Amino acid sequence: MEKPKVFVTRLIPEAGLMQIQEYCNAVIWPEELPPTRVQLLERVKGVDGLLCLLTDPIDAEVMDTAGPHLKVISNYAVGYDNINVPAATERGIPVGNTPGVLTDTTADFAFSLLMAAARRVVEADNFTRAGKWKTWGPKLLLGQDITGATLGIIGFGRIGKGMAKRAQGFDMRVLYYDPLCKDDAFAAEIGAECVDLDELLAESDYVSLHVPLTDATRHILNAAAFEKMKTTAILVNTARGPVVDTNALYDALSSGAIAYAALDVTDPEPLPGDHKLLELENVIVVPHIASASVTARGKMSTMAAANLIAGLKGEKLPNCVNPEVYA
Ligand code: DGY
Repeated sequence: MEKPKVFVTRLIPEAGLMQIQEYCNAVIWPEELPPTRVQLLERVKGVDGLLCLLTDPIDAEVMDTAGPHLKVISNYAVGYDNINVPAATERGIPVGNTPGVLTDTTADFAFSLLMAAARRVVEADNFTRAGKWKTWGPKLLLGQDITGATLGIIGFGRIGKGMAKRAQGFDMRVLYYDPLCKDDAFAAEIGAECVDLDELLAESDYVSLHVPLTDATRHILNAAAFEKMKTTAILVNTARGPVVDTNALYDALSSGAIAYAALDVTDPEPLPGDHKLLELENVIVVPHIASASVTARGKMSTMAAANLIAGLKGEKLPNCVNPEVYA
């Protein structure tokens, strides 16, 4: 029997790739950079399945160019804002994602960004490398305490809760804002308080973003939001870049409206090396690596492969973001 044709838009970790190659006739994009729009449209023609990354915009045109055989789209990520899911649903195509396996890895990283910003770790390393370390200084590179401070979590899903769990170890007061999660057993257990967004912004020493990118969350942190925050506040974003208005963030950081930001995700992404944000000392920017542990990325690859292969077999995807296609 002929193997199903699939296009995999990047070299994902071995474990998942081997499963895909065993079951499918796979074309795998070998480059470090994603395929361009033209290359993507060319490669998807006639495929039965597509395994894509958050760097690949998958819209109706991509689906229609793939054609009527396209049975499944498997995203190698938990977030799926790169995919026009309603367009996939209209065409009866299930879309898979990779929840759960990166929760702790991402929460670990979000917390380490919080700590790095609070204690100015990146600035301090740059200081040493620049040969500026002359003596121990009573006022050298003073940062902020984490223990006992207030953490505001925007988005109380798996990763937001993971952040709250870590905050327990630092005796932090935890506030959260999430219209979809008001009465929560875990929140009650750890004493996290559900508040409205304005209260969270006004009271938090640290604000950490854990929402998916949707129309409702785009620019949830804008100029008006930064005005409500403490001038000592530190922002951590490991969610999606466009959840924050970048120009407003730049203004807030450069005017002192907030103290610091630690960003794993940016808008635009990647952030160009000459972007104005990178001229500021009170910002840390890393290249979207919150889930980048060997274990998490390996599990994401087997999960994405399992979604792809299930879809090709006409079975329900183990993790499907549009289960209404099965109705
Ligand atoms: C995701 O999975 O959505 C992350 O942003 C990358 O791991």
